[in-house]
Amino acid sequence: MRFSLVLFKRFQTIFHTRLASSYVVQELQADQYGVPSEVLKLNETTSIDASQLKPNDVLIKLLASPINPADINMIEGKYALLPSSLPATFGNEGVFQVVDHRASDEQVRPGDWVLPKILDWGKWRSYGIVSINDLIKIPSDIGVESAATLSVNPCTAYRLLKDFVTLEKGDTIIQNGGNSGVGQAVIQLGKLWNINVVSIIRNREQGMNELVDYLKSLGAEHVYVEEDLRKETLRKTLWSTIPRPKLGLNCVGGRATSDLLRVLDKSATLVTYGGMSKQPVTVPTAEFIFNDLNCRGFWMSRWKAENYKGSQFAQMLYELIDSIRRNELKAPQCEKFLLSDYKAAVEQAQKPLNTTKVLLTVE
Ligand SMILES: NC(=O)c1ccc[n+]([C@@H]2O[C@H](COP(=O)([O-])OP(=O)(O)OC[C@H]3O[C@@H](n4cnc5c(N)ncnc54)[C@H](OP(=O)(O)O)[C@@H]3O)[C@@H](O)[C@H]2O)c1
Repeated sequence: MRFSLVLFKRFQTIFHTRLASSYVVQELQADQYGVPSEVLKLNETTSIDASQLKPNDVLIKLLASPINPADINMIEGKYALLPSSLPATFGNEGVFQVVDHRASDEQVRPGDWVLPKILDWGKWRSYGIVSINDLIKIPSDIGVESAATLSVNPCTAYRLLKDFVTLEKGDTIIQNGGNSGVGQAVIQLGKLWNINVVSIIRNREQGMNELVDYLKSLGAEHVYVEEDLRKETLRKTLWSTIPRPKLGLNCVGGRATSDLLRVLDKSATLVTYGGMSKQPVTVPTAEFIFNDLNCRGFWMSRWKAENYKGSQFAQMLYELIDSIRRNELKAPQCEKFLLSDYKAAVEQAQKPLNTTKVLLTVE
């Protein structure tokens, strides 16, 4: 009797350990390009057995992953970087937590927060196995929203402000899409670095005052709607108090960009990093010639690919993390959806005039 009880307990222990080391993987995948809410499917066919991890393997669990415009463009098949084959798991950035690993304890421990840095490894999955060499460990005291949205938009804002013109204290930059994730980071970094940031947003019938108040709470001092750029009053009210912009940041295209180009300073640079209106960038001929404007493009993925091996990416992340810890860089307002609620999530992420970022989570 006693012998069988011991055997039973042993079996129970083994069985439980086995159960605890097996993880069902949910992945948001598409096997063809198209409308995200139609082509995305939640796949639950694989599971991970933690006892099978190989040396340097790290088993990670999703904490949160945003739905950015680039994710939507990728699922539509309209992006410069597409999965090597379909079906593929989508999601370009996200923060994960270490569950188990076969790396040294100095490198990583269960509970640590990590950012996978492999570009073509879809982040919209509940669990995954990644080599320790493809993970960046980050502190777990910066909030899930900040961590999940750290590696694309704030990094883009940082590079846009650092890499194109030398900005001195008191210089001015102007951006459209001022309420976008990138725009919010530009506002906050600009304030931190003593640069005047003029933010242009789209006019809206509802929620305008709340949006302007929100941007001001982030440190925005100059917020205008697109139509203001065409008004003579701006010359008297704004350009008589701060210098004309040396740098313009464009994520919209079409008329919003032509209008922005017209207010730049002589020899200024316009950097296009997004095309939310899906309209081309048209440079007004007179300003191009007489103001000697420079037009450039920026793509964070290219920058990361070129700087993958160096320490510059990690250095930038830690500088941004320090700003988050000092409350100088806040995450955008976020709305969380379970991976299983993906249809509602992608629809919400594509709604116009909506300043919240959609995050996918597993619990
Ligand atoms: N090149 C890069 O490396 C890089 C990196 C990050 C982001 N991006 C690009 O930057 C842009 C912003 O990204 P995000 O994550 O910051 O975006 P987000 O937080 O989703 O915000 C989207 C922004 O686009 C505006 N918008 C949407 N539809 C528009 C339209 N038809 N005309 C004018 N404005 C429109 C929105 O304004 P409303 O509130 O008025 O709708 C909002 O300001 C995207 O194009 C994205 O692909 C590029």
